[in-house]
Amino acid sequence: MDVASYDLLSTAVLLLSSEGIIEHANTAAEELFGISRRQLIGIAAYQLFGADTTLQARFPDAISGKFGILRQDLVVDRSGVASPISLAIVPLHKQAWAALVEVRVIEHHILIDRHQQLSKELAAQRETLRNLAHEVKNPLGGIRGAAQLLEAELNTDALHEYTRVIIAEADRLGSLVDRLIAPQGETLEKVQFNIHEICERVYTLVRAEFPHLEVVRDYDASVPDLEGDLSRLLQALLNMVRNAAQALTESECCHAPRLVLRTRIGRQLLLATRQAKLGIIVSIIDNGPGIPESLHDKVFHPLVTGRASGTGLGLSLAQEFVQQHGGIIEFDSRQGHTEFRMILPLEQP
Ligand SMILES: Nc1ncnc2c1ncn2[C@@H]1O[C@H](COP(=O)(O)OP(=O)(O)OP(=O)(O)O)[C@@H](O)[C@H]1O
Ligand SMILES: [Mg+2]
Repeated sequence: MDVASYDLLSTAVLLLSSEGIIEHANTAAEELFGISRRQLIGIAAYQLFGADTTLQARFPDAISGKFGILRQDLVVDRSGVASPISLAIVPLHKQAWAALVEVRVIEHHILIDRHQQLSKELAAQRETLRNLAHEVKNPLGGIRGAAQLLEAELNTDALHEYTRVIIAEADRLGSLVDRLIAPQGETLEKVQFNIHEICERVYTLVRAEFPHLEVVRDYDASVPDLEGDLSRLLQALLNMVRNAAQALTESECCHAPRLVLRTRIGRQLLLATRQAKLGIIVSIIDNGPGIPESLHDKVFHPLVTGRASGTGLGLSLAQEFVQQHGGIIEFDSRQGHTEFRMILPLEQP
């Protein structure tokens, strides 16, 4: 495609050099950013996408093709108005430009619909599972009790073996069922606290469980206090951090397993059902094997697991707890770099 043909597209397109400098912008891009082509050419592309330093850091890898096509939704400032856009960085091979950036404005209602739809689906799934769990729980008590009575009646050890299996399996199923039923209701016990209180507790717990793992704390001490349900957010963060620690210790992929726990203040954040001007971002970064491709679309769904001993409830619960605070959990994952971000809005909805 020659440069002039890009002008016929209604989608904004930027063509970049290998250093990420804009070398061409089509007419739609001029309109979208409200900046003339002459001014667009020569600047580093990431500058158009606001103060998101994680995106900035990812640009070079995206251009060189490390992610395949990198897609991301974010909020940018367009002539003073914050608007959500969807960005795709497409690496080009053997062409005059190193990469192509495609930018679309996401209509606000579509975006909110998309996120709300997902939350609704997850909520419906959890509800179904919770009902099922209640149905399983009742007879389970009976089965366990009956096996105990039977055990008392039996006088050979060989037969006790069987009743012990029944009791042990009933207990295992019982604790799964309890976890499914666990998060009762939407009532949050809100207190004011600093996010680092949670981070520090999670840090201590993970150090105790995985003593040989390198865990790095990278805190922004200026992050203000927030109001929320401390125990639910603690549970959410712990579930995310344990996943990372398990991925690092259960696989044999990496030489120097390392987990980073990072806090930052974020601006213009895109949440489940709205935008927030200000929020807290807690990132959990590990250099493990990454989430299996087949699970990418459904890690937040209950009972989805990639681990032999997993129940697949950790992330589903974490997402539920964070969404109860108006926030969201998102992730990117590839081999050697997985990042989960817990985003909590700071101002009231
Ligand atoms: N940091 C990570 N690196 C690699 N894979 C991950 C990571 N975090 C999550 N996963 C994948 O996502 C799956 C779902 O995680 P989730 O916490 O919901 O369930 P689980 O860890 O399998 O079980 P549970 O948390 O209930 O004990 C995991 O089984 C794992 O395959
Ligand atoms: Mg887990």
